[in-house]
Amino acid sequence: MISIVGSGRVGSTLAMILVQRNIDDVTLVDIIPGLPEGEALDLSHMAAELGIDRKIIGSNDYSALKGSDIVVVTAGLARKPGMTRMDLLTKNAGIVKSVSQEIAKYASESKIIMVANPMDAMTYVALRTTGFGKKRVFGMGGMLDLSRFKELLARKLNVSRMSINALVIGEHGESMTPIFSNSSVNGIPLSKFVSQTQIVDEMVEETRKIAAKVIELKGATFYAPANGVARMIEAVIYDKKAVLPVSAYLEGEYGISGICIGVPASIGIEGVEKIIEIEMSQKERESFERGAKTLKEAISSLSL
Ligand code: NAI
Repeated sequence: MISIVGSGRVGSTLAMILVQRNIDDVTLVDIIPGLPEGEALDLSHMAAELGIDRKIIGSNDYSALKGSDIVVVTAGLARKPGMTRMDLLTKNAGIVKSVSQEIAKYASESKIIMVANPMDAMTYVALRTTGFGKKRVFGMGGMLDLSRFKELLARKLNVSRMSINALVIGEHGESMTPIFSNSSVNGIPLSKFVSQTQIVDEMVEETRKIAAKVIELKGATFYAPANGVARMIEAVIYDKKAVLPVSAYLEGEYGISGICIGVPASIGIEGVEKIIEIEMSQKERESFERGAKTLKEAISSLSL
């Protein structure tokens, strides 16, 4: 069973994807009276027509989390136009801490996928609060940054989205780090299509800024984020060992310890099964380390 705490835009969209893809039973939890039950009913009606016999439940009671294999945390404030993800730090840390206590109480065997922003810091809050092992608590942000980077590359290079292999790691925030050295068009280096100097700086900037543009235009982002989480859930449920960018707790990898930050990792039934260390250009490494520093400062400002 997949549980989703927070039945707002990202949570309800994720529930819809999970039901449509017939991935698992789905439980929605929220503090707004009626909202999760309403979402569950609406989704059940869709499932009935599709002939999908998954249990879909909505509740305001955290005890509904009992039996969860994965709990996705989409509960928290979302940024408004002009805000950075870090502006949500203190308020969402309080929400994520209380949600994590409930997860530890009712779903002590589950894995947690964090979505609430600032996501890397919130992943750390959930890890510390639940006391779960580091393989079981990880965050979605890199998958979304990667979607955006892929779309930019496909458009810029005028090739199919399917041909793009790319990677974005680091902080899911102002220092997100698209990795050009490891990105290609089906194995063909990007330099065959366009000169490095022409694209690198402007595409890094565009990847970082595009979320703010979507928020300005439509108030929030939820289709691409929900899809990113669904991909991670599939990797766990089907034990795919898929190598995906996820926010994971580092203990010496990349020369960093004590924070959660986006890194490529093999994701399977145990959660984060192996963190993969890659080579980076000097500029990429500087960006990655700048994000790590920001996150270290952010979590040290929290009382956990
Ligand atoms: P939303 O406002 O539509 O939904 C949030 C829901 O959480 C609301 O229904 C609210 O009632 C609920 N909630 C608040 N406190 C709760 C609690 N203690 N227990 C249960 N439910 C609670 O927001 P949206 O757009 O769905 O975004 C959710 C979060 O995800 C935000 O923090 C946003 O910044 C973040 N986000 C992260 C992304 C990522 O890539 N990691 C991408 C998009 C959004």
